[in-house]
Amino acid sequence: MTRANTDSARTRAADAAATPALTCTNLSKRFDDRLVVDDVGFDVAAGETYGLLGPNGAGKTTTISMICALLKRNSGSVVVNGYDLDQQPAKAKATLGYVPQDLAIYPDLSGAENLGFFGRLQGLRGRNLQRRVEEVLETVGLSDRARDRAEEYSGGMKRRLNIGIGLLHEPRLLILDEPTVGVDPQSRDSILSSVGELGASGIGVLYTTHYMEEAERLCDRVGIIDRGRLVAEGTRRELVDLVGEHDWIRLSVDGRPDRVVSRLQDLPQVVTITADDHDISLEVTDGHHVLPAVIEAAATDGDRVIGVELVEPDLESVFLHLTGRALRD
Ligand SMILES: Nc1ncnc2c1ncn2[C@@H]1O[C@H](COP(=O)(O)OP(=O)(O)OP(=O)(O)O)[C@@H](O)[C@H]1O
Ligand SMILES: [Mg+2]
Repeated sequence: MTRANTDSARTRAADAAATPALTCTNLSKRFDDRLVVDDVGFDVAAGETYGLLGPNGAGKTTTISMICALLKRNSGSVVVNGYDLDQQPAKAKATLGYVPQDLAIYPDLSGAENLGFFGRLQGLRGRNLQRRVEEVLETVGLSDRARDRAEEYSGGMKRRLNIGIGLLHEPRLLILDEPTVGVDPQSRDSILSSVGELGASGIGVLYTTHYMEEAERLCDRVGIIDRGRLVAEGTRRELVDLVGEHDWIRLSVDGRPDRVVSRLQDLPQVVTITADDHDISLEVTDGHHVLPAVIEAAATDGDRVIGVELVEPDLESVFLHLTGRALRD
């Protein structure tokens, strides 16, 4: 390859990476006279995992149904991997994979046969189809059960097969609607691992959930949706900072707590400090970064730190702060 070709290949790769996997703006949906999605807009970068976090009835499924062109929208625009959903619908849909909230698999076919069937529907044939079926089985961790009928699968395995179907045509944006609802904790963990690996492989992922632990574990950024409105978005840290929540550091010390407290209260990141005998609690900004300095200041002059705990506020408290209600009913 000549140098110029290398450069243009690099430019193309950079362009592909720079094109967002999804841009949606001003999405609204009305059922009769009820506005259930109200002016929602967000982007998912290439390679980013974006979580739409909100309680039952918030408008998550309605929003993604509009993005997947399964539901007409009352307003707004959707661009998938650079293709406008209205102007280039076939191209937009070809680069998008959708995993519905409800299972869509044939119970009397094996895992491999299900994938083969749906792959053919998507236009895959011959060796290419076979290669994709094997790759997808590997990705969702079902290679060793590929020949078993889907009705013999556990709930979590059925869900993973459902995800696999959405992956067959190698989408650059994968949309998953609450894929862990109703599965046992072990299956849930393996679904989350599969989705985490997909995110790490470089495709854009849009993931809806009402479990804040899942959003925290999987998502680079989270949009909080409530009553049809996107009320805030950002990284966990940005959301926590947005609502002004602080972190807490709890120390157990061996020595003179009064001396430790007086040294710690000079640190600029310390907001409040209280001591109960040898247990000291500090309210701090950005606990992760200040922790080494706290330990260093505490453990001098013969005073020792014998226990440390860092407590960071979670998205549950962000949701509560923004909406005045708990995420779960
Ligand atoms: N076809 C429909 N006709 C009328 N109302 C609808 C329809 N589909 C959804 N809704 C209403 O729109 C609102 C949002 O529903 P949606 O299914 O998008 O919520 P969700 O966030 O996906 O909730 P869940 O976590 O329970 O799946 C709800 O009040 C729901 O009752
Ligand atoms: Mg839903």
